[in-house]
Amino acid sequence: MREHLLHAADKAMKNAYAPFSNFRVGAAILTSEGDVFVGCNVENSSYGMTNCAERTAIFSAVAAKGPALEIVAVAVTNAQGVACSPCGACRQVIYEFGPDAVIFYQGKEGPMQSRITELLPEGFRLK
Ligand code: THU
Repeated sequence: MREHLLHAADKAMKNAYAPFSNFRVGAAILTSEGDVFVGCNVENSSYGMTNCAERTAIFSAVAAKGPALEIVAVAVTNAQGVACSPCGACRQVIYEFGPDAVIFYQGKEGPMQSRITELLPEGFRLK
């Protein structure tokens, strides 16, 4: 499952629109229904409008399957193969749909696997 998601993330990464940072990122999520959705980062001339790969994947899943989305796992890759865990904003968005989700990513010392609750203690929820 880990390898499958990392491979899907790598493939999606090739579609990244990252002319400003030149840092191409791919993400793949596994849902509780067994579906995989992918995303890439999409930057903008107005830099703050940039959407990370993880959120692109999650928003695509909601658009395709509806608001009952439950995220089981998330994989994140980048073209350089450097350390890259989900940013703070993406951690909160992952938590919304997957409070028990497992995240596969590249850490400073190699491949990592963490629970979203380890990456985002005290995540915020309204429900
Ligand atoms: N980025 C992601 O897509 N996901 C991450 O986990 C880290 C950062 C993107 C945002 C921006 O397009 C580029 O990487 C540089 O920050």
